[in-house]
Amino acid sequence: MKTNPVLFNPLLQGNASYKGGKTVHDISLPDGMELYKLSSNENPIGPSPKAIKALEKVLPNLHIYPDRTDIRFREKLSAFYGKTMGVDHFLCSNSGVALLEMISRAFLREGNEIIISNPAFGPYEMFALKQGAKVIDIPLLAPDFSLDVDGILDVITEQTRLIYITNPNNPTGTYIPQDDIDYLIEHLPDHVILIYDEVYFHFADAEDFSLAIPYVLADKNVIAVNSFAKSYGLAGLRMGYGYGKPELMNYLRNIQRPFFINIAGMEAAMAALDDKEHISATVSMVQSQKERIYPCLEEIGAEYWRSQSNFILIKPPVSEAQFEQDMLQHGLMVRPVANFGAPGCVRISIGNEAATTSLIKALPQVYAAYK
Ligand SMILES: Cc1ncc(COP(=O)(O)O)c(C=O)c1O
Repeated sequence: MKTNPVLFNPLLQGNASYKGGKTVHDISLPDGMELYKLSSNENPIGPSPKAIKALEKVLPNLHIYPDRTDIRFREKLSAFYGKTMGVDHFLCSNSGVALLEMISRAFLREGNEIIISNPAFGPYEMFALKQGAKVIDIPLLAPDFSLDVDGILDVITEQTRLIYITNPNNPTGTYIPQDDIDYLIEHLPDHVILIYDEVYFHFADAEDFSLAIPYVLADKNVIAVNSFAKSYGLAGLRMGYGYGKPELMNYLRNIQRPFFINIAGMEAAMAALDDKEHISATVSMVQSQKERIYPCLEEIGAEYWRSQSNFILIKPPVSEAQFEQDMLQHGLMVRPVANFGAPGCVRISIGNEAATTSLIKALPQVYAAYK
């Protein structure tokens, strides 16, 4: 349909390419069949009990406006990071994607360029296109999805503003060794910011995995993106935060709306930050379930990548849509990730013990039918 270009911004039309994964409401299964949602990298043990308590406390006061700013949250974050960074280093947001959108709106104008490395999280591209920026893809390198650091450095121009890395990466589950990031940052010109998406960091255990902290403390042009949707188990509340040097973060605050804080989300997130037991229970659940899944993948001869995160990427021998359908017959929701730049691949989130039991029972049956 033709729309009036004076009234409608063409950049906002036709670019809404990223659709989140299906919810359980999109699925109907035969009566009595258990459904396991392994499609959105959610926490397999649920939210932090401390967060639930904090929520219960806040509910009777939902008629009252929340804090005017996120300063209480920022103080909490500063303490969480051992006061290595001050309140001006932090910014709270209504989810990880909300922060990604703020960053795009703040730093991208028409004609600017961003660099991504597919397979990558879809919204990086979507938000850039909405700003009229050009997206340059320097794909991760086969066979193990390593970052093409020289390839990235080679395509930086005067128009480049943002480079995105995701560590550990979604949807591959792979990570970027610290040396590669050191090298990349060492060679970045001043007009470029590295967006360092570390929302899955709790699950990484590689020795040379690094957070964005050392780069931020060294005053580099780096903004870290974090979320409460994954390890903290608060996906439904839409909370996230970022950190970077104060010059960048204070500029980003210009995008914040008045009373942008959702008080329920903020109190729950602050409580979840303190709940170290919940995080370690989450991480050990994910690690132990991954160790049950790998042998099954080996046994059936699946093509897959070992993961530093709470999901595993596989490449089934049939189309991703077919595999999604076949797994659903066993009550398992999985996520085709062609729209993350990984055609033919499917991401399977790590669930709880019952979900894994169901998964490792279903996979050999599903794969047997492909022989
Ligand atoms: C790599 C990556 N970054 C950011 C996000 C956004 O997290 P949120 O759910 O808080 O918007 C996600 C969510 O899936 C993600 O996978």
